[in-house]
Amino acid sequence: MTVLAIETSCDETSAAVVRNGMVLSNVVSSQVALHAEYGGVVPELAAREHLKNFPSVARTAADAANIAMTDLDAVAATQGPGLPTALLIGFRAGQAVAFALEKPFIGINHHEAHLYSPWISDFAAFQPNVSLIVSGGHTILAWVQSELKHRVLGATIDDAAGECFDKTGKLMGLPYPAGPEIDTLAEQGNPKAFDFPRPLLNDPGDDFSFSGLKTSVRYYLRDKPQLLEDAQKVRDLCASVQAAIVEVLVEKTMRAAGRTGVGCVTASGGVTCNSALRKQLADACQKKGFTLRMADKKFCTDNAAMIGILAERKLAAGITPTALDEEIRPGMEL
Ligand code: KG4
Ligand code: ZN
Repeated sequence: MTVLAIETSCDETSAAVVRNGMVLSNVVSSQVALHAEYGGVVPELAAREHLKNFPSVARTAADAANIAMTDLDAVAATQGPGLPTALLIGFRAGQAVAFALEKPFIGINHHEAHLYSPWISDFAAFQPNVSLIVSGGHTILAWVQSELKHRVLGATIDDAAGECFDKTGKLMGLPYPAGPEIDTLAEQGNPKAFDFPRPLLNDPGDDFSFSGLKTSVRYYLRDKPQLLEDAQKVRDLCASVQAAIVEVLVEKTMRAAGRTGVGCVTASGGVTCNSALRKQLADACQKKGFTLRMADKKFCTDNAAMIGILAERKLAAGITPTALDEEIRPGMEL
């Protein structure tokens, strides 16, 4: 089966071609530079950019996969969750292509695509797992009992972990998105220099909360603004904030894995690029004897390959395609 997949839920315009579980092409046009000026994603601008970039992104994906549009067996696009105007561009474009080709169309849940992204190109190795989806817009713990069967265990009750990286970074004067910059600066910082809170760490549930940590950094810098004039102190702040976020993510993921009795932990989403998270998850899983699958870095941030891979598996499993007059679902839940 050959599938054209489209992802436009936020600020990446992406198209991919997948065939029989393999990614033939995955083109991502990022709008990060455009939104950096505003310190966050501006929905109207994102939609206009998707509209402008989609035709060339789709064309490049088809050319890179060496296929003609008539080779396609199905078309997939992100249906939700996401920014309504941004989702609309890719979803409607996908429906239009499917209509023109008289092929099935399938709308895909963005979170669900992240959930299965650690298995891209290697579904043969799939095993039941506890999965951490962690990015700028979402922080979710899910229990994947078998392929296409999963249950949400917990999620953030306020800010997402990536949002916490980005907003605390902004308080330190770092450019948007601050996550990657904090990761780099933290390498030469002391993670114990500042003792920031670990929200909900001792709560027995599987939910997360990061807004208190952000507020704590805000008050700390309000009272000691001179810290930001010392480059080493900024590195220490980055390391300390990162340590607080990562400790909560790793501890709660491991606890859920232990409780559910699975032998495998997976992680996906943009924050899974974080080097401390990758290392600490690896160490914790090794200690407990769990298998760890983290999405390949190129599939951590938003991409259409994960949409296409999940679409293909759903269609192969006999899941009914999505009607061509069906709407986007900006608040779609996992
Ligand atoms: O999955 P993604 O591309 O988009 C959303 O669906 O949100 O994730 C983007 C998020 C941003 O918050 C960004 O700061 C964060 O992932 N991020 C990182 C790193 N790389 C990306 N956070 C911490 N360390 C990183 N290395
Ligand atoms: Zn995402």
